[in-house]
Amino acid sequence: MDPAYFDDYRSLTTGSRDLYERACRRIPGGVTSNVRFFPPYPIYMSRAAGSKIYDIDGREYIDYCLAFGPLVAGHGHPRLVEAVQRELLRAGTVIFGAPSELELQMAERLAGVLPSAEMTRFTNSGTESTMHALRIARGATGRTRIAKFEGHYHGVHDSVLLNLDRPLPPFAGSDGIPSAVRDATLVLPFNDIEAVKAGLTEDVAAVIVEPVARGAIEPQPGLLAALREITSRLGIVLIFDEVVSWPRVGLSGAQGRYGVTPDLTALGKAVGGGLPMGAVVGKRELMSIVTPSGARAFPGEVSKDASLAGAGFPGPHDPYVFHGGTYNGTPIALAAGLALLDLLQEEGTWTGLAAAGERMRQALRDLFRRRGREAQVIGTGAAFDFYFTGEPIRSSREIWRSDLGLRRQLDYRLLAAGVYNSPAHRFHLSLAHSDSDLERTLDEIERAMAAPSGAVPSREALLR
Ligand SMILES: Cc1ncc(COP(=O)(O)O)c(C=O)c1O
Repeated sequence: MDPAYFDDYRSLTTGSRDLYERACRRIPGGVTSNVRFFPPYPIYMSRAAGSKIYDIDGREYIDYCLAFGPLVAGHGHPRLVEAVQRELLRAGTVIFGAPSELELQMAERLAGVLPSAEMTRFTNSGTESTMHALRIARGATGRTRIAKFEGHYHGVHDSVLLNLDRPLPPFAGSDGIPSAVRDATLVLPFNDIEAVKAGLTEDVAAVIVEPVARGAIEPQPGLLAALREITSRLGIVLIFDEVVSWPRVGLSGAQGRYGVTPDLTALGKAVGGGLPMGAVVGKRELMSIVTPSGARAFPGEVSKDASLAGAGFPGPHDPYVFHGGTYNGTPIALAAGLALLDLLQEEGTWTGLAAAGERMRQALRDLFRRRGREAQVIGTGAAFDFYFTGEPIRSSREIWRSDLGLRRQLDYRLLAAGVYNSPAHRFHLSLAHSDSDLERTLDEIERAMAAPSGAVPSREALLR
């Protein structure tokens, strides 16, 4: 049965309903990424500008989804659009399929901002970045098992698609994952140093962690340092998945913010300024593992770096890991990523964005207190999130135990009021969000909280 708050949603989004009906005949679930679906059907978008996105019915929304994170400058920022157009005209093509200078420029810029980014390889997505980082770790250590945390999302490949939405015991989020791959992944609770100490053993190749979990749950003091110490002692490669946290928690990423440098970092989303691009960055001795054998044989600086391959890690002597991809590092994605980085490095830009994030977090705490609702407002930098629970949120477990029905009800009311996000997902801020956007959003949240509660269905009922 439809919850009452779907009524407004349905009556305001008839164009999306029609497109959904049509799309379901040719596109499973009407979506090309499972995370884009929400019941009863998602909103089909037609255009966007700045902080706003417009659906097929012509409705305007303030956008806090921002394509799940990459659009740190908002939609179609003139500087990014201009950079893409300029590079397209200059290069005369959308892809070289050969090395180009922009790749090097971006690798140099990343090395300047991210402590772990001694060397870079580009990919096309966050998924590819975490996948290649794990393979490098396995190659360097000669080990198979990897460890990840409950509720941490690292993309859609087999090794990491476990316990995305539920606590232990281990649970694969998809059929089709070979049991040997599933069993090679150790799942640990987040923000629990003792569990990490007890769980990690010398046969683990890598620990992969979202240092700010779900882009909004900060690590407890000492957690990342403890991870660093244990992994170094056991010869395990420490991978930070900063696909969301860079640059939303800071230009030096979570690694700069919390002062812990991982061995490898997976980047995605904002690194391509909204175009499909990711990157694996990391320590020279690890990244050198992907140096092609031809380049190792060549004299000069390259072979000197390659001779470090795997040094300090317990795997085979001189390991070799394959990394490739037709679309890695296309010129316009690099141009967009560089333009975004230019913008964010301008005096006051990132701090202004983080200050807006802090204003929203504080205003929401005040709002929920005023309305007598027990709530936890989380996040840091340019992202925020909130859940209705009295328990401080240290991991996804407190979120799963929170009143998610109330949160979803609020989110659907916001959708009806013209504030867009995927329900029960963190909110992203951009340079395009104005003070009046933020004020209006707070007003709409206040109004949605004041509306009488309808019957709140369970998650299972919603997803049926
Ligand atoms: C932390 C994190 N890592 C990896 C990914 C996967 O990135 P992509 O969707 O570009 O493959 C995501 C996507 O949301 C993510 O949030």
